[in-house]
Amino acid sequence: MIEFQSVTKQYQGGQPAVDQLTMSISKGSITVFVGPSGCGKTTSLRMINRMVEPTSGVITVDGKDVTSVPASELRRSMGYVMQSSGLLPHRSVLDNIATVPRLNGVPKSEARKRAEELLDVVGLARVLGKRYPSQLSGGQQQRVGVARALAADPPVLLMDEPFSAVDPVVRDELQQELLRLQKDLAKTIVFVTHDIDEATVLGDKVAVFATGGKLAQYATPEEILRAPANDFVASFVGRDRGFRHLGFTASDGVTVHPVPTVVRSPGGSLDPEPGPGAGWQLVVDHAGRPLGWTGPGNGAGLIPGGSLFRAGESLRRALDAALSSPSGLGVAVDSEGRVLGVVRGGEVLALIEEARQVRQAAL
Ligand SMILES: Nc1ncnc2c1ncn2[C@@H]1O[C@H](COP(=O)(O)OP(=O)(O)OP(=O)(O)O)[C@@H](O)[C@H]1O
Ligand SMILES: [Mg+2]
Repeated sequence: MIEFQSVTKQYQGGQPAVDQLTMSISKGSITVFVGPSGCGKTTSLRMINRMVEPTSGVITVDGKDVTSVPASELRRSMGYVMQSSGLLPHRSVLDNIATVPRLNGVPKSEARKRAEELLDVVGLARVLGKRYPSQLSGGQQQRVGVARALAADPPVLLMDEPFSAVDPVVRDELQQELLRLQKDLAKTIVFVTHDIDEATVLGDKVAVFATGGKLAQYATPEEILRAPANDFVASFVGRDRGFRHLGFTASDGVTVHPVPTVVRSPGGSLDPEPGPGAGWQLVVDHAGRPLGWTGPGNGAGLIPGGSLFRAGESLRRALDAALSSPSGLGVAVDSEGRVLGVVRGGEVLALIEEARQVRQAAL
């Protein structure tokens, strides 16, 4: 629904910032622009809502040339989230969120009511609505930025490195939140990042830009990781791309083996008490949730466990669970966190190799 047709942008006196960009972005999907600094991601994004005008070429939205729509109208029809949340410092959070609906003529009380609902949507407590942006954490400010972009319920959302200013844990949360939101909202989202991991997590499709504003590859994340189009993409995606790719490989075939368990009472005693020659046993609480391991010859001591693997997650998670476990056995749990059994690293690796051979045969 958004089409770039041979779009070039040349700022005064420079090399092209965007060079002959042709691509088509489908409705209701997340498209990520990724690439090193200065490769024209922001310029490309801003040409969609005419914050930047192309030097040549045409951009259409729903078949309509964007230059046929007044720039201010176009901008209001698209949510825009930028790197620094871009909130107005002297206005309350609620007023910030209500900005565009107010510009569109929505009465104040109605706009505020909708703004309060949007706080729920982006996972913020309503009491925060009265605060000023500087009284919020970085992650909270970014959520307000997303709420503000959603306020006029635009079909298109443009997001320029919205999560890059927050720490990795918060970023992870915001990414998951965006994916959850998108399930209900099904907006057409164009998302800019320089982080290939973020791109592959979020994107239905990923556009890798190379220096000089050239589109190097435009494909699904899996395809980009599996078959980079050229050396530039391969090096941008990085050396551990094989490992990242596992994040997309289903773990359906992994065998979950039974595991001996002992229950730890709230007082700390184990039932049954592991005897002298006992091997690795998984320690669980009364609900069957894993607490750690008791090792051979370790008596009643509790050895912390590794990462957990939820049924249905990727092979990457299964492998990580096995490799990070003190017993070498990855603990598989159900959606309630109760132990289902264990997976063996060797078996996960065999499946990974099998998946690789299937992929190769398909190429
Ligand atoms: N207003 C401007 N005037 C002149 N040159 C500009 C202007 N804006 C961007 N450029 C240049 O155009 C090129 C592309 O810039 P752009 O901001 O699109 O890159 P980017 O991929 O978003 O980079 P970053 O990851 O650093 O945000 C750069 O060389 C930049 O210096
Ligand atoms: Mg940029």
